[in-house]
Amino acid sequence: MTRRVLCQLDEIPDPGSRGFDFREGDSLHSVFVVRTGSEVRAYENACPHTGGPLDWVPDQFLTREKDMILCATHGALFRIEDGHCLSGPCVGEDLKALPVFIERGAVAVEF
Ligand code: FES
Repeated sequence: MTRRVLCQLDEIPDPGSRGFDFREGDSLHSVFVVRTGSEVRAYENACPHTGGPLDWVPDQFLTREKDMILCATHGALFRIEDGHCLSGPCVGEDLKALPVFIERGAVAVEF
């Protein structure tokens, strides 16, 4: 497992989301985080429907109401809490969650 610091907690809107693309060794990673208060979840930025990214606009992964994760490509809706798809072409499938750590105000993920 590799742990990588993404940003400071206060650099994520509350509620809100941010995306991160980075290289680790030979691999490219695309992940996003969703913050609600002191809670942060992280998922791979790959929709179970096609494997493509969820965001058309950078860092925008939530619905207008900011109550669900939205795939902008075909409108799938996922629970923020566990990435489970409740509506859309991949209903019943899940985003791939990553372990999140908040240490001294910094948000890190393991992959
Ligand atoms: S790619 Fe996400 S709903 Fe189709």
